[in-house]
Amino acid sequence: MSDIAYVNGKFLDINDAKVSVKDRGLLFGDGVYEVAGVIEGVLIDNLAHLKRLERSLHSIELELPLTINKLIEVQKEIIMLNSLKEGTLYLHVTRGESQNREFEFPEAPRASIVMFVQHKKIFHLTQDKLRAKVMTLPDLRWKRRDIKSIALLAQVLAKQTAHQNGCDEVWMYEDNFVTEGGSSNAFIIKDNKLISRKNNETILSGITRQAVLKLVQQESLLFDERPFTIEEAYHSSEAFYTSASVFVMPVISIDGKIIGDGNPGPLTLKLRNLYENFAKSFINQKNNN
Ligand code: PDD
Repeated sequence: MSDIAYVNGKFLDINDAKVSVKDRGLLFGDGVYEVAGVIEGVLIDNLAHLKRLERSLHSIELELPLTINKLIEVQKEIIMLNSLKEGTLYLHVTRGESQNREFEFPEAPRASIVMFVQHKKIFHLTQDKLRAKVMTLPDLRWKRRDIKSIALLAQVLAKQTAHQNGCDEVWMYEDNFVTEGGSSNAFIIKDNKLISRKNNETILSGITRQAVLKLVQQESLLFDERPFTIEEAYHSSEAFYTSASVFVMPVISIDGKIIGDGNPGPLTLKLRNLYENFAKSFINQKNNN
């Protein structure tokens, strides 16, 4: 049985789910998106994702075509219709159809919303999957990376190059400082201190990153919110990246240079474990309701 997608009010077989060739998302990348993790059929930290969606929409002067409560209803429905146990829920909102491919906003834009799920392991990962290799490449993106824009060509090309070089993720850099991963936030550990770039327009404010930083505070771990250079990353004792689809992913090499002893570091594994417990709390909440 094929998956079910949601397109502008309709639940459709994924093979029949279509948008217009004049959709501004397709023509201009004029839209924003979210990806949230799902375990045991439950969305992880969904309210934080929806808050970021609202912020992204506001930044591009676009209104959500349905209320947040309705959106949450649709999210739950699509998880149920697809019997999604573990994976991710993707959703995007674009500025809808353009009449004549005019760049300016249409007079009365009708936003278009699309949602579908991806079945994949994000929680129950075996040890051999928790060993990411990273490649660094220049950050070629625009300057508003805090907006979760669907225009992802720079990341597509960078991640493809990393993939062709046998790596799992790219860490992009600007002026020799790492900005973030192709689809994740980057962290290193040096002298037992966690180092990660400050949130501003140069990176996406990762929802997983926010949660990890709260856990770091709760555990009274040392944290330095500042950019780090590629050279510093090469000499770090541990490194990892975070996202809704990988949680906390240990990095074992950067540009072929082995990090620590070439195995996931102890602090990284501790943070992954803490984040997993945090993620499980959403399942417990649901079961208790
Ligand atoms: N990407 N930075 C970038 C550029 C990202 O694309 C992502 C997520 C993150 C991590 O954000 P979060 O913790 O909220 O997932 C950071 C998603 C997973 C994607 O594009 O598939």
